[in-house]
Order: sequence, then structure tokens, then C-alpha cells
Amino acid sequence: MTVNGRLSRRTIVRGALGAAAATFVPTRFAIAQGAPLKVGLMLPFSGTYAKLGENIASAVELLIAEKGGTLGGRAVEIVRLDDESKPENGPQNAERLVKRDAVDVLIGTVHSGVQMGIHKVVRESGTLTIIPNAGANTVTRSLCAANVFRTSFSNWQPAHGMGLALGKKGVKKAAWITWDYAAGKEAGEGFREGLEKHGGKVVQTLTLKFPDTNFQPLLAQVPGLDIEAVGAFFAGGGAVQFVKEYKAAGLKVPLCGSGFLTEGTLQAQGEAAEGMETALHYGDGLDSAKNKAFREAFKAKTQRDADVYAVQGYDSAQLLAVGLEAVKGDIDAEGDLYKAMRAAKIESPRGPISISPSQDVVHNIYLRRVEKGENKVIGIAAEALADPGTGCKL
Ligand code: BEZ
Repeated sequence: MTVNGRLSRRTIVRGALGAAAATFVPTRFAIAQGAPLKVGLMLPFSGTYAKLGENIASAVELLIAEKGGTLGGRAVEIVRLDDESKPENGPQNAERLVKRDAVDVLIGTVHSGVQMGIHKVVRESGTLTIIPNAGANTVTRSLCAANVFRTSFSNWQPAHGMGLALGKKGVKKAAWITWDYAAGKEAGEGFREGLEKHGGKVVQTLTLKFPDTNFQPLLAQVPGLDIEAVGAFFAGGGAVQFVKEYKAAGLKVPLCGSGFLTEGTLQAQGEAAEGMETALHYGDGLDSAKNKAFREAFKAKTQRDADVYAVQGYDSAQLLAVGLEAVKGDIDAEGDLYKAMRAAKIESPRGPISISPSQDVVHNIYLRRVEKGENKVIGIAAEALADPGTGCKL
């Protein structure tokens, strides 16, 4: 079979393995023999995004454990790889999983720059890939691919919700502060477009290199900007520090942003985050049986509270389960596998989710306010929001 107009995953991997091809085992035979399905988890387990990677991995494993250790009737073997959020190593790390480890499925990653490296490799190999965080817009826009699905968000989505909510409140002038890489830039675009829908403007964008945390020179510029709000994209350890320093600077302009700014970080941010409003596809106190059960199970497994990263990991595994159940574990039945995944309607802890024509997730973006150390949902900023998928020809 061809994928994206190229040879299928199996054909490429067979070629890449060279001499090992003689011992290659066709999937249907492998299923009959009970061969496990190899799932590669390419995630950051060190660096500023380490906690995000850990929560995603734990939640993938949780869903598989809930299914009795099998997906579509096949036992699952997990191969973990720490990508360290280093874009320069992205292609090489993805190749290690696809070629050396011959994974059947790749779940990864967190950092948009690293995702571009994975994308280059899996568009060639045809490996089924599920993105459990990285929001890089292009992978579900102009560079979309039949074998690549995203259960997390596009960078545009949450920030667009925040821009809409701020614009609705009547804010006319705002600034955007972020790391200078795809996630921050694309989130800034979503924020700007949301604000502009209600007649507002982003009058200044301030950036620093990822993962630097020398925020002081940027914060020093805020009082001179004549703005009513600051929007920001930071996540993980960087978000903890940014929110604390923003508060310590005593700035009068309210800080808001993509919800990653206060997600999985509130304990460390403490008082500094209280009252902040952010927009995200998850929040504390979402009152559904699914969310309650998920949070309890995640806590029991990890002794940590679930957050959006855990939800995204869980849903990546849920989507994979839908596909594999439809083909009874035969990962090579690509046509039926992808058809089932594209049609999936999944009950997520975040609420109902589905898959857009460009294979990004469609979900509600909630407006949240930090109250007593929780990201309390206070409204819906955008209902069933789909990324525009611009340029995707699937
Ligand atoms: C990204 O690089 O796409 C990203 C990283 C952390 C949180 C959200 C997005």
C-alpha cells in the first residue's frame, strides 16, 4: 500500500532493515503468533518539559492497562525514548524508533520543533503516528499526512479561545510574550485572530529563546506599552518561573494566555497564579463520570493529579484502541484502520472529541480562572473548535 503517495510503512522498514529483512515477520502471521504490538513513546523525560512527558506516558500506559494490556486483541510492548525536547535530535531519534526498534506505532511528542523531525521521518516511513501534545500547526495543515493523527490541539486552538474571550470582554490592545519557536509564534497568531474578531489588536510581541528564562528584560517593557492585557505562551518549568516573576514585578496589566501557563504548574506557582484567566481544552472540576474515573485512576497509578497532558496521553491511546479494535489488531490494514480513527467519536475526560478532516482534534476550549490552586472552568471560550486545517488535502 502507498501512504502519502509513498511506499507503506512495512515496505520501507523492511528495506531499511536490510539484512534483517530475511527474518521479517508479516503482521497477519505475527498476530496469529500473538506477537506484541510495539508502541514507541518518543517524549521528553528530561528538561523543562519532563513532567509533561511523564504524565503523557503514564496515561498511555493507564489506558492500555485498563484494556487488560492489549489493544485490538494484541499484547502491547512499550519502547520509551527521551527526546529531551531537542529539535536538532528529532529526526535521528524518530529513526531509531522506526528503523532500529521497528515500532508499529509512534506516540510523540511534546515540543513542536521535535515534532517536525518526527514528521519528516514518519511521512517517509508511513508509521502510524499519534501526537499527544505538540501543537505545530503545519502537521495538520499543509503537511498533513494520512498516517498522522493529533489528539492534543493545534497551537492555534487554545490561544484562539483566549483571544476570543478577551475580545468579548472589550479588550482593544494587548501584547503577546513567548518563547521564540513554533508553539509560541503559532499560539500568538491564534490569540491575535481571536482578539481581532472582536475589534482588538496585538500591539507588541516580545520573545526570548527556548528554553531560556531570562524574563526580566521583557517584563521591564510592559509598563511602557499602553495595553490592557498581556497574553503569553509558556509551559512546564518555564511557565512556573514566568508567572512568578510577572507577579513579583508588580505589573498592573492582567496576565492571561494559553492554558499551559497554569497547567500542571499551580502547586509550584502558588499565590502568583491566583485569579489568572487562561483558555484550554481541559480544566479542574469538569463534572463528568469519565473525568472523575480518569482522575481517580491516574492518581492511583501515579500518586499525581491528572492534568491536560495526562488527558492527551490517555486520548492518544483511546484513539489507537478504536483503530486497532476495528481491524482486530492488524496494523497493516491501513485503509480500515485510518477510516475508523478518522470517524472516532471519543468520550474524553475533557468532554466529547472527534477528528477533523485534517486529522487534528475537535474539542471545546474552556475559559478557566485560577481559584484556590485550581484551574476552575468558568465558561466555554469556543465550542467544538476545529483548527482551520488550511492547505491539508486529505
Ligand atoms: C509545543 O511545543 O507545541 C508545546 C509544548 C508544551 C505545551 C504546549 C505546546
